[in-house]
Amino acid sequence: MKTFSELSYNRLVIIAYRLPFKLVKKGNINVAVQNAGGLVSAILSLSEKMNISSGSDSKILWIGTGEKQLGKENINPKFDLLPVEIPDQINDEYYGGFCNDTIWPLFHYFPSLTVYNPSYYDSYVKANQIFADTLKDVIKPGDFIWVHDYQLFHLPSLIRSYFPDAKIGFFLHIPFPSSELFRHLPRTWRESIIKGIIGADLIGFHTNDYTQHFIKAVKRTLGCEINQNYIYVEDRICKVDAFPIGIDFDKFHEACFLPKVLKEKERLKKQLNGKKLIFSVDRLDYTKGFLYRLLAFERFLEKHPKWHQKSVFNMVVVPSRDNIDRYKDIKKEIEATVGRINGNYSNLAWRPLIYQYKSLSFEELVALYDISDVGLITPLRDGMNLVAKEYVACQKENVGMLVLSEMAGAAVELNEAIIINPTDVEETADAIDKALNLTQKEKEQKIHKMQNRLSRYNVFTWATDFFNQAEDVTDKQKQMKVNFLDPHALTDIRSAYCQTGKRVIFIDYDGTLIPLSKYPDMAILNERAGNTIKKLIDDTRNKVIIISGRECEFLERQFEGLDVTLVAEHGYFVKNPGKDWITKSSVDLTWKEKFLPIMNEYVDRCNGSMIEEKHASIAWHYRNADEGIASIRINELKDDLTEILKTDSKLQVLEGNKVLEIKSVLYDKGTAALEFLNKKKYDFIMAIGDDKTDEDLFNVIPEYGFTIKIGTNPSKAKFNLKRQSQIYEILEFLC
Ligand code: UDP
Ligand code: G6P
Repeated sequence: MKTFSELSYNRLVIIAYRLPFKLVKKGNINVAVQNAGGLVSAILSLSEKMNISSGSDSKILWIGTGEKQLGKENINPKFDLLPVEIPDQINDEYYGGFCNDTIWPLFHYFPSLTVYNPSYYDSYVKANQIFADTLKDVIKPGDFIWVHDYQLFHLPSLIRSYFPDAKIGFFLHIPFPSSELFRHLPRTWRESIIKGIIGADLIGFHTNDYTQHFIKAVKRTLGCEINQNYIYVEDRICKVDAFPIGIDFDKFHEACFLPKVLKEKERLKKQLNGKKLIFSVDRLDYTKGFLYRLLAFERFLEKHPKWHQKSVFNMVVVPSRDNIDRYKDIKKEIEATVGRINGNYSNLAWRPLIYQYKSLSFEELVALYDISDVGLITPLRDGMNLVAKEYVACQKENVGMLVLSEMAGAAVELNEAIIINPTDVEETADAIDKALNLTQKEKEQKIHKMQNRLSRYNVFTWATDFFNQAEDVTDKQKQMKVNFLDPHALTDIRSAYCQTGKRVIFIDYDGTLIPLSKYPDMAILNERAGNTIKKLIDDTRNKVIIISGRECEFLERQFEGLDVTLVAEHGYFVKNPGKDWITKSSVDLTWKEKFLPIMNEYVDRCNGSMIEEKHASIAWHYRNADEGIASIRINELKDDLTEILKTDSKLQVLEGNKVLEIKSVLYDKGTAALEFLNKKKYDFIMAIGDDKTDEDLFNVIPEYGFTIKIGTNPSKAKFNLKRQSQIYEILEFLC
């Protein structure tokens, strides 16, 4: 993997709701303090290791809300800070409203807390526009623009509208919920969210689950074509993938023996006086599961009295969003519950719960991570949870054990931790006891495995992986760039044609040689197409291969009397002029029985659609169905089929023009074309097609060949044609 400076970007531009620092008055002077949260922690750690010289051009530009003063002072040598100013009234409804009362609860699976207020949504639209207007004047060619998190869903597309060629990444730091939850949002809101995000070139999530949820939401909301994590957005493509965010492992791991940390640990050890320490630290948030955690600790005290006097739970809550009512309420509830538990169990010599509402310095945090015997991290839902990773990294002098919620994204990577369901008070209480009872050796083995993993995929690997994949997307976009066939290119093709004598021309049938028609049977070979083919085959130096998804009987009827080679059903059947059909008879077709009833069900559910059962495949055509219903049903059918096909890797779903087809993966138009190309050397190769199945064909055509896609979608083909009828002009021009 290349580092950022080795890639083709000049400058990194981070855009997040907040700037990474805020100014806090200490006496008479303002000091810059790091803002809370995983996003800021991660990017600040990343910047520390990025090779950034003091020249202002190579500094990271961070655009976000914050005090005006931050933009003027040199707060951190790695950053230029550009404050975004959002009027208070808009900000209240944008940040407090749509971000934290709509998106945050819904995306963390709290639909009952979600507020649907059109005025909040309007402010969200306005605020994203303010961000776009602010950055419009500072973006330069060569910038890699990295937009972060749920406060800025609309921004990638807004930036794209100003800078069509900008390199834009988007990363979501919170979960992306299942499409069932996502569709709680009114249609226009969810459409604008998806359209906004897919303005980016690369879209990243913490886990594969979130990535799949997003893909499903894109399909269901906009019906975009998606192929191997690439989304086809009109005339461009973008990519979606999972990038589990990491930490600066070495920084945390090495910090355990820093003089300040050692001193802090000594102080804490004295206070603990031999008691076991259970520790948690989180921002104040209802997603963090404080109340269940407290109940679990209470149950632990009740069920495992042997730990009375011998253990202490230090729960640190970092102030966050505490001007929002719901957050004020949880704080009160936490304080009441802490009071109740301490009231029940404390005595003069022992207080089981130490609750602190404050931020910790880095040294205090590391000391607490290292010295504690149990890290109790039990969110009800969390995109990743960096605290869990930091806790593991800091197990050095006193190796403890992590008790981790299965609802945290981090649980995917930290599976040697004791994994619990945070609402299961009994299970969590027992997990604390279990963690305290593990032998030193058991703890070390588990912790070392997790540490190995975290040290390899750390915050630098995370970001570097993201930057590299973004560059790969740029390469892929170049390959798939829509490039309309102009007279100049056509002349080049003709001159190659005239200079060669062993030519092969692959032509797809429906949508390419013949316009798409209402019913498949009506798409018969018209006079103009027939004459064009005739002209081509009259020249004995030409071999014409009609390569189609159609059944063999149909093709044979159309081309009767014409000496063309026919490839039917995407390569399952081949017929050379004057010869019999050759079949791929070794391919298993028993799967058809299972899929026919499922696809027939969709005919019932989508008026106007129909099934075409071919020899080796089944196709569902929806050209004549109501477009609205069909767009919903097609996505549902794709989902259903994709689920089934997960367990059957020998089959594939092909998406053509208003048709969805299932066939074996053992052959396609690409493998069929290759068989011809391997048998004989041709000095002129041309392939023309119109839909996704023709991409397999384009893929196998050597670089010196000419590939043409009918339509305006991105394609592997060298050229695109706007209209199907142009194919006749081109072929006639060649002849
Ligand atoms: N953290 C902090 N100040 C503190 C305690 C913790 O900035 O007083 C950091 C902590 O080290 C971690 C981040 O805040 O990197 C919390 O990230 P996490 O992903 O766990 O949760 P989030 O706050 O993003 O929901
Ligand atoms: C989480 C979110 C961040 C947010 C942070 C702090 O980490 O993913 O986008 O900045 O919490 O929340 P706040 O609302 O205070 O910015």
